[in-house]
Amino acid sequence: LPRILSGMQPTSDSLHLGNYIGALVNWVGLQEGFDAYYFVADLHALTVPTEPEVLRHRTRVTAAQFIAGGVDPKRSAVFCQSHVTEHAELGWVMNCLTGFGEASRMTQFKDKIAKGQNANVGLFAYPMLMAADILMYDADRVPVGEDQRQHLEITRDLAERFNTRFGETLVVPEPHILKESAKIMDLQDPTSKMSKTGSTDRGVIWMMDEPSKTAKKIRSAVTDTEAEVRYDVDAKPGVSNLLVMHSVLSGTSIPDLERRFEGHGYGDLKKEVAEVVVEAITPFRTRMTELLDDPAELDRAVAEGADRAREVAVATMARVRDRVGLLPAA
Ligand code: TYM
Repeated sequence: LPRILSGMQPTSDSLHLGNYIGALVNWVGLQEGFDAYYFVADLHALTVPTEPEVLRHRTRVTAAQFIAGGVDPKRSAVFCQSHVTEHAELGWVMNCLTGFGEASRMTQFKDKIAKGQNANVGLFAYPMLMAADILMYDADRVPVGEDQRQHLEITRDLAERFNTRFGETLVVPEPHILKESAKIMDLQDPTSKMSKTGSTDRGVIWMMDEPSKTAKKIRSAVTDTEAEVRYDVDAKPGVSNLLVMHSVLSGTSIPDLERRFEGHGYGDLKKEVAEVVVEAITPFRTRMTELLDDPAELDRAVAEGADRAREVAVATMARVRDRVGLLPAA
């Protein structure tokens, strides 16, 4: 089977609807035809200073949310990045293949610096660790949202550079970014992506929120001064965002939704989107409660996932060490 890999950072207690629609829904769909590896990027989360207890909690609940969203840990490897220590090792090799200027041009890094965020060297090296995550598993495809596109480009460049320098070793991965669902927008500021940081709480739909709170947020979403339910990202970003949420979660095409809401106002659209979102979130929250009630089952799933991942990672690192000229230890 072809390989697939993706990860999420444990930087909040709950995933938001952007993580769910832009990534997790695709992860679940792709488990069928792929040998899948899904991990919690806890090493990446260290780039944001966090209390140790809080990081531990978020790491566990993030893994649980993969499973609650439909990832089957019997089929796909669910694990923590830090449990497979080869990630950090390959990350170092990637650092040594990356130009300083090249890393300085990464937009996520530049944006954070521009916002005056106090950056550490880990943040600078973030894309190279992410390249290591992906290249470690010979991943053919990487399902992510639009915001990760540049990271996948540098990953492909690094794989090609490694292969040119040291001989065919690493698989050059393809991004798997679905056009419409790849960027879910903030409800209050529909020209910015929904994100864990930087937006107001009213603009973000948290998967773990009470359904009544979620419905209220959707009802007060920013739209526009027209009255026509039509998909047009440039002219009607708020309405288009609601249509995308509905379409992905209900499986109805956007043209079908436009026809259905002909002659209806935004109030009707919001009411139905709220229903569709709550319907998706409710079983997710129920499953989360069950998983957190039985921490032993969760820990076992994550440990088994790490064992499976480690098997692949150890083999890749052995190849890489040999290729770059590191002396065998024994
Ligand atoms: P993270 O934790 O920020 O986000 C996890 C996934 O959610 C997607 N996403 C969105 N999709 C649509 N609309 C949105 N508003 C939205 N916000 C987030 C992201 O694109 C991502 O797919 N660097 C990664 C974690 C990572 C990783 C990896 C991913 C580390 N190593 C290797 C893939 C492969 C990140 O910060 O994702």
